[in-house]
Amino acid sequence: MADKLSVQHLLGIKNLVPDDIKLIFETADTFKDVINRPIKKVPSMRDVTVANIFFENSTRTRLSFELAEKRLSADVVNFSASSSSVSKGETLIDTVNNILAMKVDMVVMRHPKPGAALFLSKHIRASVINAGDGTHEHPTQALLDAFSIREKLGRVEGVNVVIVGDILHSRVALSNILCLKMLGAHVKVCGPPTLIPRHIESLGVTVEHNLKKALEWCDVANMLRIQSERQEIRYFPSIREYTMQYGLDRNVLDSIDKQIVIMHPGPINRGVEVSSSVADSPNSIILDQVENGVAIRMAVLYLLAQTRGFEQ
Ligand code: CP
Repeated sequence: MADKLSVQHLLGIKNLVPDDIKLIFETADTFKDVINRPIKKVPSMRDVTVANIFFENSTRTRLSFELAEKRLSADVVNFSASSSSVSKGETLIDTVNNILAMKVDMVVMRHPKPGAALFLSKHIRASVINAGDGTHEHPTQALLDAFSIREKLGRVEGVNVVIVGDILHSRVALSNILCLKMLGAHVKVCGPPTLIPRHIESLGVTVEHNLKKALEWCDVANMLRIQSERQEIRYFPSIREYTMQYGLDRNVLDSIDKQIVIMHPGPINRGVEVSSSVADSPNSIILDQVENGVAIRMAVLYLLAQTRGFEQ
């Protein structure tokens, strides 16, 4: 296995090769040990400065990147569009160039427009990490999801994973499909026909519209949020009707003849895609996903810094 990533930016899972993912997982294993020690900090990125620039709201991704950077001893600056000069008309490139003029080495960016991270990477010299670009990709979420499956089941290869819900608007769905397929998992998507993109089978997945059948097939169910903020039209009659067909509650879980692992990238709409009795059940690894997010993001930051020769 290679000891360096094949990329200088993390723009999407589609830019990675399987060896990159294996290297990220092995590095994250080491960092997971670090963050469970009494002293949770290593000097690996001392003297590296990282800017977290978020043009869209975030809780998990933003906090876990910041924590990952601090655990690696990097200097961190945070930028939020809502409290910045973007509201006065400053462009993305001008905003970022001003941040880079302050000698920033790496940029973690979330943006509502698909392709924003790629665009940025072509205009600046710093490494860019895509923390979610519109409906396109969310690569670190897919990496932490696959890492969490590997941790729970001991492998990803051969595991049956169903991704349920708003596949059409979900960057988590696309990045998960690409990552899981690269690691040899079997992937199915499940949801109302209006929320499943046409030709999605070309990504090597199968489609099932019946939740119970999908659950009976799978080892892992990744329950996605309905992305109301990205929906310009109504894709189903009502939230209540969606929940009746695609919501996962204790009754549905008890009606299948096997134990399955429940995942959710967050934020959860409790009582819509999952009930509290499922989200908080022993089947759920939702908080393990959050914990693993820090280790995975430490690994990505550290390995990208290595490709640029920043690290100590
Ligand atoms: N999973 C995820 O991206 O959550 P946030 O939007 O809170 O970062």
